[in-house]
Amino acid sequence: MSDAVALIGFGYWGPNLARNLQSHAGDRWRYLVELSEERGAKAAGLYPDVRVTADLAEVLDDPAVGAAVVATPAATHAPLTRRLLAAGKHVLVEKPLALSTVDAVELATLADDRGLTLMVGHTFEYVPAVRRMKELVDGDAFGDLLYLHSQRLNLGRIQSDINAFWSIGPHDVSIANYLVGQRPEWAAAEGARYLNARVEDVAFVTVGYPGGVLAHMHVSWLDPSKTRRTTVVGSKQMLVYDDMDAEAKLRVYDKGADKLYEDAYGAWQYKLRDGVVHAPTLEVAEPLGVELRHFLDAADTGTRPRTDGWNGVDVVAVLEAVDASLRAGGAQMKVDNGGR
Ligand SMILES: NC(=O)c1ccc[n+]([C@@H]2O[C@H](COP(=O)([O-])OP(=O)(O)OC[C@H]3O[C@@H](n4cnc5c(N)ncnc54)[C@H](O)[C@@H]3O)[C@@H](O)[C@H]2O)c1
Repeated sequence: MSDAVALIGFGYWGPNLARNLQSHAGDRWRYLVELSEERGAKAAGLYPDVRVTADLAEVLDDPAVGAAVVATPAATHAPLTRRLLAAGKHVLVEKPLALSTVDAVELATLADDRGLTLMVGHTFEYVPAVRRMKELVDGDAFGDLLYLHSQRLNLGRIQSDINAFWSIGPHDVSIANYLVGQRPEWAAAEGARYLNARVEDVAFVTVGYPGGVLAHMHVSWLDPSKTRRTTVVGSKQMLVYDDMDAEAKLRVYDKGADKLYEDAYGAWQYKLRDGVVHAPTLEVAEPLGVELRHFLDAADTGTRPRTDGWNGVDVVAVLEAVDASLRAGGAQMKVDNGGR
């Protein structure tokens, strides 16, 4: 495909996509659709060769446009993606794919039926440290994957349309699904609405996978420190990915508790292993650039992107189960991936 590309939305996140589109799509980036006059004018000043419009129909009706990147608020993802796919365009849509599993399944099915690329912006699956973690988790030295926990905390970007888990939790769910390599079975969540009476600003979520692997996720936009950390505990090694650590984003700990013998009272005796820590060398690449190139390549060649529509469904299904659990006072809720 050498077709033109459109960007939809130029708010907080859109400018990052615009910068990467300019680098990786060059003059294929032809349109920016933005409803806000002020944001549209800002983009027009920065990118004079790109046509800025408030009218999506210009993109839908232009046969030269083969693909679109959607960076608008979450509630608009499903309707915009549906219109773009129906017009025959490949779509990269920001997370979450949709606000319901029913919508997400419909979009993934529509893309498949029409032979179009649908990719979800689960950026962390394109982060070198996360990809290295996956290689380590799948390798022999790590042992069995036991559990994960993550913290995605900061003060701010307080939203009112979706809660903190729908806003920043999709990253942690996509990382956990990717590392475990399975679809979760259930989710349980506690949360609180300290700032806004309508949406949770803090959530503590546990997700259960087949075989007993647990992933615990703490998200908040009411926390003193910006924290982006994922810890993965295996039977032989442990990994810590700390995105705020400028020195070493990923550390591998040769730590564990090895079973020695069962004593006379039936209690297991353990030998604690406190071995070396090392920080693997990681490729230096901006994840958003890697993600965008992956999308353009998938659209051009017809290959399935790693974070396709069905990957998006698996994340939305967890978000929906988390909502149900929040309403049910923290009860475990089944993750329903639409019968997949
Ligand atoms: N991958 C990441 O790490 C990451 C980080 C931040 C945000 N995001 C995602 O990016 C998306 C946008 O978030 P944001 O923080 O930039 O939101 P935002 O509200 O700051 O910006 C959204 C922009 O879209 C425009 N818009 C709304 N409806 C539109 C429509 N129908 N057509 C054209 N323009 C429209 C608005 O005018 C606004 O300028 C969200 O889905 C969010 O989850 C992803």
